Amino acid sequence: MKIIYILLSTVYLCKAQINMAFCDEYIEYDVNNFGKFISNVKLSNSTDAILAEKRVLIIDDNLNVLSSVSIPKTQTHNCEWIFNYNNDTFFVGCQKNGEAPYLIAYKSINKTHYAQFGDIVYFPNLNETVIKVTGVLNTLFTVQAKKVILFTLVMSAAEWSIKTTQNVLDKNYFARTTEINVTDIAYAPYSEDKLQYYKLIVVEFRLGAFWVDAVVKNDILSPFRTGLINLQAHFNEYYSKQYQSVVIHSTTQNVSQLNFNLFLYQKYYDLNIRAVYVSTSKTTIQVNNYFSSNGWPTWGKPIVFGNLQGILRRNTLKQSIFNVYNIMIPYASVQNENNLTATTYEPVDTFTSPPQDYSIYYFNSGYRVVHSIEDNKLQSCDLYNYKLQME
Ligand SMILES: *[C@@H]1O[C@H](CO)[C@@H](O)[C@H](O)[C@H]1NC(C)=O
Ligand SMILES: *[C@@H]1O[C@H](CO)[C@@H](O)[C@H](O)[C@H]1NC(C)=O
Ligand SMILES: *[C@@H]1O[C@H](CO)[C@@H](O)[C@H](O)[C@H]1NC(C)=O
Ligand SMILES: *[C@@H]1O[C@H](CO)[C@@H](O)[C@H](O)[C@H]1NC(C)=O
Ligand SMILES: *[C@@H]1O[C@H](CO)[C@@H](O)[C@H](O)[C@H]1NC(C)=O
Ligand SMILES: *[C@@H]1O[C@H](CO)[C@@H](O)[C@H](O)[C@H]1NC(C)=O
Ligand SMILES: *[C@@H]1O[C@H](CO)[C@@H](O)[C@H](O)[C@H]1NC(C)=O
Repeated sequence: MKIIYILLSTVYLCKAQINMAFCDEYIEYDVNNFGKFISNVKLSNSTDAILAEKRVLIIDDNLNVLSSVSIPKTQTHNCEWIFNYNNDTFFVGCQKNGEAPYLIAYKSINKTHYAQFGDIVYFPNLNETVIKVTGVLNTLFTVQAKKVILFTLVMSAAEWSIKTTQNVLDKNYFARTTEINVTDIAYAPYSEDKLQYYKLIVVEFRLGAFWVDAVVKNDILSPFRTGLINLQAHFNEYYSKQYQSVVIHSTTQNVSQLNFNLFLYQKYYDLNIRAVYVSTSKTTIQVNNYFSSNGWPTWGKPIVFGNLQGILRRNTLKQSIFNVYNIMIPYASVQNENNLTATTYEPVDTFTSPPQDYSIYYFNSGYRVVHSIEDNKLQSCDLYNYKLQME
């Protein structure tokens, strides 16, 4: 019965996508050698790294395997996170049963091959469950339910290590009287008076998000100012929306364009807002767009490429649909008309997968989308109907 349901809904959904995008045949990768696909990061304009259970694959934009590297770990460790350091190094983050997370570094040998660089390195004095680890420049973030901790990465030509810092973004830092529940972090650079800064957006389950301004010195981010993007108060619905993740579409010092993914609750839509940071105690919110979910629960982070917005959704059977929306979101720096009612957008394309444990989904240059099917298959599709003008 279950199998019939899966087949029927897959066939139905596949039909819907045939009219829209042109997809290449999917490519199946050796699951015995690589394991299931978990997550991904863009390494360059034409190369991507796919973190799988057993190895990291380096692939080109035609999905050919250029090389792969093994992941040193015990059987009980799960490696779920992958992020860039600079154009020639990336990190993989692992954790075992909520204990002692660690990172592995990989450095490029040439444009197609990478090799492990140094030893695995544990986060000092950290033995708690992390939701995510990521980093930018020489700052690393561990996201835990009640806080985000900033660490410093120390890189030399021969080795690397992780140092603790004083920066813990928790209830006290955000001046809250009750415990916070962090679900995600995103960051994007901006500059002002020739200095480099980062805007950090720390997503909170019920409130919406906190913003943090950090100044960059010696490639290290130092937070110095924060405020609240109070979506709960904006919508005035205490028990309703639950915030899952965010992508910063664009930002300046005083304005950000943000796309939030929400948890479950079918009657609510993922949303795009313009946040204006008037002062540390006042952030105004303008809701510009909603992204219709057609009743599927949202899963993971939204992604953006020009006028394309991608949102992955999946049901309890682990079947997934990757929705692509075609919508021009103005840059944060552009003064926009204050439209009173937000528009709700339907996806222009939907890419489906039978059950899979994780999902890979990203945009490639030339309006192409890559999505995973059944744990170890990737498909590249050309969204040629939607090559509308870039913003
Ligand atoms: C990606 O790289 C190719 C060749 O290396 C170049 O032709 C193309 O313009 C680049 N695309 C972007 C978006 O930078
Ligand atoms: C990284 O960037 C530098 C300087 O822009 C360049 O020389 C080098 O080839 C790049 N490395 C890779 C792996 O693309
Ligand atoms: C890159 O390095 C690998 C490993 O040393 C080597 O096998 C490969 O031929 C190199 N590729 C290029 C284009 O130099
Ligand atoms: C982490 O904590 C667990 C108990 O919660 C303990 O068994 C383990 O040894 C600790 N690991 C480290 C590296 O301190
Ligand atoms: C905290 O957030 C998680 C999602 O990351 C959610 O499952 C959980 O119910 C939240 N806890 C509380 C107390 O709201
Ligand atoms: C943001 O700051 C810039 C430069 O100071 C200013 O021109 C602009 O009006 C501000 N935008 C808003 C929405 O306050
Ligand atoms: C505001 O609404 C007008 C008329 O419906 C539309 O043309 C314009 O694109 C909207 N602006 C934004 C930023 O959504």
